Amino acid sequence: MAALLFLAACTPKAPTDLTQTGFIPQPASVTATGDAFKVFATTAVYYQSGAEGLQHTAAYLAGQLIGISGLTISTEAADKAPSRGIYLEVSDDDAELGSEGYELNIGKRLVTIKAGSAAGCFYGGQTLLQTLPVKAAEGEELTIATGTVHDFPEYVYRGFMLDVARHFFGVEDVKRVIDLLAVYKMNALHLHLTDDQGWRIEIKSWPMLTEIGGSTEVGGGEGGFYTQEQYVEIVKYAQERHITIIPEIDMPGHTNAALASYAELNCDGKARELYTGTDVGFSTLCTDKEITYQFVDDVVKEITALTPGPWFHIGGDESHVTAHDDYVYFIDRAQDIVVKYGKKVIGWDEIANATPVEGTTVQFWADVENTTMGVEKGASVLISPAARAYLDMQYDSTTYLGLHWAGYIEVDHGYTWDPATLVEGVTKENILGVEAPLWTETITSMDELEYMVFPRLPGYAEIGWTTPALRNWETYKLRLADHGKRFEDLDIDFYRSPLVPWSE
Ligand code: ACM
Repeated sequence: MAALLFLAACTPKAPTDLTQTGFIPQPASVTATGDAFKVFATTAVYYQSGAEGLQHTAAYLAGQLIGISGLTISTEAADKAPSRGIYLEVSDDDAELGSEGYELNIGKRLVTIKAGSAAGCFYGGQTLLQTLPVKAAEGEELTIATGTVHDFPEYVYRGFMLDVARHFFGVEDVKRVIDLLAVYKMNALHLHLTDDQGWRIEIKSWPMLTEIGGSTEVGGGEGGFYTQEQYVEIVKYAQERHITIIPEIDMPGHTNAALASYAELNCDGKARELYTGTDVGFSTLCTDKEITYQFVDDVVKEITALTPGPWFHIGGDESHVTAHDDYVYFIDRAQDIVVKYGKKVIGWDEIANATPVEGTTVQFWADVENTTMGVEKGASVLISPAARAYLDMQYDSTTYLGLHWAGYIEVDHGYTWDPATLVEGVTKENILGVEAPLWTETITSMDELEYMVFPRLPGYAEIGWTTPALRNWETYKLRLADHGKRFEDLDIDFYRSPLVPWSE
């Protein structure tokens, strides 16, 4: 009898209250129905026949379930919901869900994910995956509490930026970043591809950009660059996870790597030395030479041809040695080139000083006046305030990596703000979304990257996805604490903030 009691106490009870799951981002609504769904060796992921992109989404979800359970979960097309298993369906009968929302119904025998698009089904799948461990223990029975999640995002752009110019990160590293963004329903990866210290994307018509400009990085390491094939591989990997790549070529400042590669881009016709320090604001393309615009045209043409997403980022920040009029002239011409190749312009908030074309987005990082001027000129805003959302800012004065010129950003400080009320004169209607950038002056490896990015990234994902009315630090920190085990199981080297009640 004692042995029996002991056994009963040690067998984990199947979860039956879906509202107790620590979802991040917090869904719009979660209701529990008090039962449990079991994942069996015979469980299959079915997808509605003929719905665009759904086969991929089903394969991704099955792959994740196989990774968790070790079971042989198959996928199969179906014309209607089966009686048991997991079923993905695209339907436009719930307008509230929009293009990325979903309804996840977990029944005792059948799980359905219904959405207006494959992207919505993908996000419903991510929510489902958060009800399971990242990796089942040997012999662990996988059960999911039953109920319904009805969910859709606050903003259409929920992004992360990686600076691969100051220190280079290779294709496999970028893929891991993409996988981690997908877990938290982020849908934009902005790659800061060029800066004073490095040019990181092959341009076939200007080969010295990578041969010379890609040959080093901050601290004098060997640098590196993506071939166009590798860039396409990244774009495709991201696309399969419903993440858009936004390429940035920063100009007219932050261009020393290009100026070192081609003498003719300098006003004095002399190539610059490669630079491996961390100063900013000392370089500029020569804005009154025609060759500069041929260069910009060639670069934009080659990159946009490989980029299916709607945006091209022209940088435009900290051009301290470009005269104001020259800066405005340059940005106006650069944006016309972007438009000519069919893309919408994004630039750091300084570009509002030029004449934004229709569809432009200014990325607020520092200057409120620039940002409100951008709105007055008809631009939308991407919200990336350095003092709240820069992932290279240290957590506190003891953080061994990163910088603190915009202040310290502990996990609560990174979470407790609302994009729609941060800048006077910039409201939700003006905002495209939220992006958290990681600049890599001090970040040299994936372990270091992960330490700065986690655990803050899920907070930025939630700011982008969840309505402010459902966001609250006191409850968020408990959900984040639950994710500590997930970070460990994903081998993420994260900062164990003392503000979060991590379980042992
Ligand atoms: C920036 O941090 N210079 C955009």
